[in-house]
Amino acid sequence: MGKDVIIACDFNSKEEVMSFLDKFTGRKPYVKIGMELFYAAGPDIVKEIKARGHKIFLDLKLHDIPNTVKKSMAVLSKLDVDMCNLHASGTIAMMEAALEGLMRPDGTRPLLIAVTQLTSTSQERMESDLLIKEPIEEVVMHYAHNAKLAGLDGVVCSPREATAVHNKCGREFLTVTPGVRFADGDIGDQVRVMTPAQAREIGSDYIVVGRPITAAADPVAAYERCVAEFVD
Ligand code: C5P
Repeated sequence: MGKDVIIACDFNSKEEVMSFLDKFTGRKPYVKIGMELFYAAGPDIVKEIKARGHKIFLDLKLHDIPNTVKKSMAVLSKLDVDMCNLHASGTIAMMEAALEGLMRPDGTRPLLIAVTQLTSTSQERMESDLLIKEPIEEVVMHYAHNAKLAGLDGVVCSPREATAVHNKCGREFLTVTPGVRFADGDIGDQVRVMTPAQAREIGSDYIVVGRPITAAADPVAAYERCVAEFVD
């Protein structure tokens, strides 16, 4: 499985994302399209970015009854995305249905990755709002294991959880890790961050990097720096 740097293209219009991607005249980065851009620009944005030669992680975090998720995943699979995701809390049955929906007639399918507990959820909130009393680290590992049992390819997790996820679910089980910052850069609103080089050390399979690239004075140079530290 190829290690790669995925740029979080958190823009809210087609014009902005296209003018950002126009800068990349050499190597075409793997791109993450989230809810904001997808809802603003519609499914055609996926096809247009794909047609420019980028791989796409469609980050829509599905969570619904199995039948609805299965049928929705079938639609996303036709957009020819390379990776998509859902909430592991939707249950193993929902994750299995999602995989069925993603399968294309030719036997290929996008990678399917689970979100465990969102990093915005604290232990306190999980206990009070969700009535889950176990330590959040255990909940994350349990959800990762459920994703593995359902046949998924991996999880989105903090770089700090990547080693534990690999230990529990196997080295082939993918860890896709946001929260990446350069050693000499701003951390912004992220709290527990790692550099691309550290993420490589601890065995992340893909890093998701947003503002350190999108807000850089020279985004292409920032991207190349990530690739040099993480992949090359
Ligand atoms: O700009 P920045 O590098 O912080 O962007 C990180 C990206 O990863 C954003 O699109 C954010 O929504 C996403 N993400 C995250 N933390 C998670 C899950 C997703 O930062 N736990």
